Amino acid sequence: MTDPAIDGDALHFDADTLRERALTTLTTARARTTLLTSCVEDPDLTAQHSPLMSPLVWDLAHIGNQEEQWLLRAVAGREAMRPEIDGLYDAFEHPRAERPSLPLLPPGEARNYAAEVRGRVLDVLQSTAFHGTRLTEAGFAFGMIAQHEQQHDETMLITHQLRKGPQALTAPDPDPVPLFTGPSEVLVPGGPFTMGTSTEPWALDNERPAHRREVAPFHIDTTPVTNAAYQAFIEDGGYDEERWWTPQGWAHIRQHSIHAPLFWHRDGKQWLRRRFGVTEVVPPDEPVLHVCWYEADAYARWAGRRLPTEAEWEKAARHDPAGDRSMRYPWGDADPAPVHANLGQRHLRPAPTGSYPEGESPLGVRQLIGDVWEWTASDFLPYPGFQAFPYKEYSEVFFGPEYKVLRGGSFAVDAVACRGTFRNWDYPIRRQIFSGFRTARSAGDV
Ligand code: AVJ
Ligand code: FE
Repeated sequence: MTDPAIDGDALHFDADTLRERALTTLTTARARTTLLTSCVEDPDLTAQHSPLMSPLVWDLAHIGNQEEQWLLRAVAGREAMRPEIDGLYDAFEHPRAERPSLPLLPPGEARNYAAEVRGRVLDVLQSTAFHGTRLTEAGFAFGMIAQHEQQHDETMLITHQLRKGPQALTAPDPDPVPLFTGPSEVLVPGGPFTMGTSTEPWALDNERPAHRREVAPFHIDTTPVTNAAYQAFIEDGGYDEERWWTPQGWAHIRQHSIHAPLFWHRDGKQWLRRRFGVTEVVPPDEPVLHVCWYEADAYARWAGRRLPTEAEWEKAARHDPAGDRSMRYPWGDADPAPVHANLGQRHLRPAPTGSYPEGESPLGVRQLIGDVWEWTASDFLPYPGFQAFPYKEYSEVFFGPEYKVLRGGSFAVDAVACRGTFRNWDYPIRRQIFSGFRTARSAGDV
């Protein structure tokens, strides 16, 4: 399966290290889940804050239910603890909008259920051998469940952002940095590179397998597009000029009267935004946040540029020109540390552009990982040789032209669910997610 010539050597950890990683990542995820479901009163957990989102208490019990299904039933062969609730927490049986009307476990019961599952999982973890089946190989199922919980933690953070009412969450701001004065774009040389992975132990099915991709030379922005740059597009009448928009994008913004990123409003000459219950002046040097794919695409056209393809994004993020190999992250193979990237809800906002010099790529591209999810030009499609694992409903059922790929992760993504190969996807109209973008142009285009 693995071709070290194109994908480097498989990462090998001994069983104690794997057990420790599984325990640490599961524990980190649960601390965050607990914060997100205890910083508001119970009525706020059962309320639906937006038809786009589940009640927080649904996410909480769904986290426990997935953990029970994969780690207690699939890995350890245990009986279902509460078979009657499986249907309630099956994302495909009930769309988000109808979840508040279901007989969901009330907050106390949901907490107890998730805690009871976790208690049993910690026993299973002690006795599991990390080999023998694909599910247990290198602790994959534990890593998958830690990532699943962190993904729902990001979903719950989106619900908190949509929630009306006073501030419930606080976090320190990122450190200020001097205004970024580096080049605005870099040239990524053309040629093949290795996309995806066959060796990253906890990579999910859609990131696999590693394969060679030819990419023509292109230029890519050194940093994500800032609020100041995006405001210039607004002030230039970008939302009123059909020529910048795809036909679907134009129809969408007209029909829904969209004139600015979600959560923005104008106060005289100033743009303000609401962020986790606080209204503030839109900070000019921060990556723009809460734009949909149509807005990102229109901005790029206005700027005489385009969105990068997913392959271009990944080449910019992983290719090491010195060694003709793909790295795990822009900075190399080391796991993300706070000096590399704004991840893990350490801050409740993106960091100013130009932050994290230690996280830059060999060519000098910054903030590819963390801060804001970056829209790409590409539809969400399987890689050549894709195999659904361990369930079709993670990725396979979403492949197709309705979804656009986002890369790089936001400030709300935990390191366990973020890699140079990690793929996210959503509808091109979505902007409650922590989405921004950077632009590109083909080499030779001016
Ligand atoms: C990969 C973020 C699109 O939240 O719908 C959570 C992740 N899959 N539970 C989503 C996921 C199943 C998924 N995204
Ligand atoms: Fe889920």
